[in-house]
Amino acid sequence: MSTTTPRQPTHAVAVAVASLLVAVLAVLLAPRGGSGEDGGVSIAETPHWRPVAHLTPQQNWMNDPNGLVYVDGRYHVFYQHNPHGNDWGNMSWGHSSSTDLVRWKEHPVALPATREEEAFSGSVVYDRENRSGLGTAENPPLVAVYTSVFKEGSGHEPGTQAQSVAWSTDRGETWQRHTGNPVLSLDPPSRHFRDPKVTWYPQGGYWVLTTVVADDHVVKLYRSDDLLHWDFLSDFRADAPEGVLWEMPELVQVPVEGQPGRREWVMLLSVNPGGVAGGSGMRYFTGTFDGTTFEASDERSTGPTPDEQTWLDHGPDFYAATSVSHAPGERPVVIGWMSNWAYAADVPTAPWRGSMAIPRELVLHRTPTGLVLGNHPAAPVERAVGGPEQALARVDVDGRRELAPLDREGAYWVGATLRPGDAATAAVQLFGRGGREGARVSYDRTAGELVVQRAGSGPAAFTDRFGTRYRVPVPLEDGRVRLDVLVDRGSVEVFAHGGRTSVTTLALPEAGTTGLALLSDGGASTFEDVSVRAFGS
Ligand code: FRU
Repeated sequence: MSTTTPRQPTHAVAVAVASLLVAVLAVLLAPRGGSGEDGGVSIAETPHWRPVAHLTPQQNWMNDPNGLVYVDGRYHVFYQHNPHGNDWGNMSWGHSSSTDLVRWKEHPVALPATREEEAFSGSVVYDRENRSGLGTAENPPLVAVYTSVFKEGSGHEPGTQAQSVAWSTDRGETWQRHTGNPVLSLDPPSRHFRDPKVTWYPQGGYWVLTTVVADDHVVKLYRSDDLLHWDFLSDFRADAPEGVLWEMPELVQVPVEGQPGRREWVMLLSVNPGGVAGGSGMRYFTGTFDGTTFEASDERSTGPTPDEQTWLDHGPDFYAATSVSHAPGERPVVIGWMSNWAYAADVPTAPWRGSMAIPRELVLHRTPTGLVLGNHPAAPVERAVGGPEQALARVDVDGRRELAPLDREGAYWVGATLRPGDAATAAVQLFGRGGREGARVSYDRTAGELVVQRAGSGPAAFTDRFGTRYRVPVPLEDGRVRLDVLVDRGSVEVFAHGGRTSVTTLALPEAGTTGLALLSDGGASTFEDVSVRAFGS
């Protein structure tokens, strides 16, 4: 993120000034009774944007997911968190857990910032054989590898970053920092050496750690047998414009659709700025890993500009996604932060700021031009969704067709197989009220593109960096495209063709705008297998 770069002072001052203005305005405009603590100033709360089916902290700031791990039937998510305010700072690891990836229980802060260090992003593994010796054979530990950002008086140069270990023997409820920290640092120390992700490498029987030197555009790979001693393996580099930071790398094996048993290596990488939708975004590289070196094999992914790179999601709000260690069936289930460093600090939600996108499973699709990384909601999410509140086998639309309002809670799926026929555009309109536009998920047949337009007025104008429209090429298949859209109060996630292409956006509609309609402009369209399903409470 930019607050950790040499641009930090400018950013910090801008954030401070912006926060002060927001706070002053909020105090002036807040209705009586508006509450919420932010640096001692009361600001208006925004419960209508609090997601129903997505993870947020009850209060205060959240960014990257950290240390995702599945153990004893629960998914644990640790995350970058400020326990003391609704802005980035005091970086600590918050903690929540869930059995269905939809309803979350918040736990005490796992790794608080201390006088010596802040705890930046990292990962957690279940050390089943107690190779680290930090637990016992009977009670193996969870081991976290995280980035220490050292402070004055820590005995390390202030502002430098290195990798440290903490462990838990009570399934993540409480954590101890390892006395031998840091376990991995650069010589000379770096201010941008961060985001360790540990992956078990079954073919070699050791752990592999990926980390970045963010401003040098390099992913560094290490190996270990005990999670405490790390040996350098290799560097992975690719083109990146000056000024872009590389963050949150991960090497993950992903199944290939339609070829049971085949898995290929993928390098996930978050970049900021330079994302395909502006600001921060997630690139990926398909390739080979021989236990030492990762080599990207697809030249479509390695160019210097967004058009010459491959992206996991095509919207503005999907960043820092990382996989769940030991997920059932070793499936690659990832969770991403649903925001963008271009405006994350200004998103006008309170008393929390930041949420995770719906957890997703990765899959490689085979296309005529090569493997494409897709992502669709992970299996347990489906279990939390109720039966159809509306199911329509076929709807012909020429102009506009309202769907009956449902949605008492504000979180629902709307899906349809769209045949645009000879229409210029066909769309699902969200957040409508009295015929007014809220947001739209459209198919532009003439351009062959999916277009997602998020709520474009009112609160969405909180900053001019909050763009309104995102386009991505999506070819029709047999004249149709399947669209599945998850709407959750303040966000819209679109999965086209079963997740081959996804677009994730925050939306921030006006309160009470729950209208849903099907539209077809410039000709008639057919919507098949239309369904609207809400999350059960
Ligand atoms: C990514 C990131 C990481 C860092 C963390 C700090 O969004 O900038 O590189 O560890 O956030 O909160």
